Amino acid sequence: MKKVVLAYSGGLDTSVCIPLLREHYGYDEVIAVTVDVGQPEQELREAQSRAEKLSDSFVLIDAKQEFVYNYIFPLIKANGTYEGYILGTAIARPLIAKHVVAVAKREGADALAHGCTGKGNDQLRFDAVFRTSNLKLIAPMRELCLTREEEKRYAKEHGIAFETDKRWSIDENIWSRSIEGSELEDPAAAPPETAFQWTAALDNTPDTPDVLKIGFESGVPVSINGRVLDGVALIKDLNAIGGKHGIGRTDMIEDRVLGYKAREVYEHPAATILLEAHRDIERLVLTRNELRFKDMVDHTWSELVYQGLVMDPLFDALNAFIDKTQEKVTGCVYVRLSKGVARVIGRESPYALYSKDVSFDIKGEQSTAEGYSMYHGFQSILAAMKRRPL
Ligand code: ARG
Repeated sequence: MKKVVLAYSGGLDTSVCIPLLREHYGYDEVIAVTVDVGQPEQELREAQSRAEKLSDSFVLIDAKQEFVYNYIFPLIKANGTYEGYILGTAIARPLIAKHVVAVAKREGADALAHGCTGKGNDQLRFDAVFRTSNLKLIAPMRELCLTREEEKRYAKEHGIAFETDKRWSIDENIWSRSIEGSELEDPAAAPPETAFQWTAALDNTPDTPDVLKIGFESGVPVSINGRVLDGVALIKDLNAIGGKHGIGRTDMIEDRVLGYKAREVYEHPAATILLEAHRDIERLVLTRNELRFKDMVDHTWSELVYQGLVMDPLFDALNAFIDKTQEKVTGCVYVRLSKGVARVIGRESPYALYSKDVSFDIKGEQSTAEGYSMYHGFQSILAAMKRRPL
């Protein structure tokens, strides 16, 4: 009995993988695993009903809490962005892959499979985690290079029913929704309004702003307007209210790991609000030296996440540094939401390094700055003088 465990999303690619693993790869038993990281209920139900028809057994793992507390919260602490957008798909992949490996070990499987193609980043993210087990790795979509038409024909032959006019390839979790393909493949074409589901078009946003007070404790959000919330509920609430104001849309050309440029469109209202607020309170409580150094750490942290290399020991080391800095990131940030913009309008913390006395009020002490000023830029001033023709 040859057993394989498949990371199953319920979409066309992973559904086609199930009969392929039997017929083409010769496995006797295919176990489909879907990891719930906050996909829409409907998507999960569809995955379940399809898997129950196609596979030998189906495992659904609710990983929402784990995703928020062990993956999203560290991302907030690290201000995790890639080429300017907030990481979304990338942060969920290692968690999904980890659960698939765990099921395979428990079931005594021989192999692991995913439905990624050979062009994107996700193949690398799954592979990297899968390879930490000693199991065989199978990626039917990448290995067999089926055209979309061949794939649809094969699906039909195996009774896999799909709306044939699915326009976009969408990846959604509690933190972010990414949309690609179809007309978006033309970088010049504006995304149609129907591509967006979480965020309102600016024309439909309310004229009255909302102001939220977001409470942070050691770098992570804990409350909204004084109401303490569990992480999952907090993100859901911010997605709803931010989405209503049209906040958190990204449309960009992105450099994939393999070097392809891709046009991607994202929605991530809660992420936008929380990262604006988090970066802001960090500027209140961290020293200039800490901020400069942490910028580099955040950047490297984000590169590792984008590449799916979170099992690199460097990742742990960076998290240790980041956690140390976050001990002081406690307090409140006031954010005004209106017309697609989340703007910080106030912040406070018991660890604030801001002193009104020093910045504004003290009189008569300014003359001491003169001594500092005499040496400030000494070499630059000399060099500028030497450049002048004598
Ligand atoms: N380009 C993003 C990344 O590599 C998102 C890819 C998500 N996939 C999708 N079908 N939209 O992280």
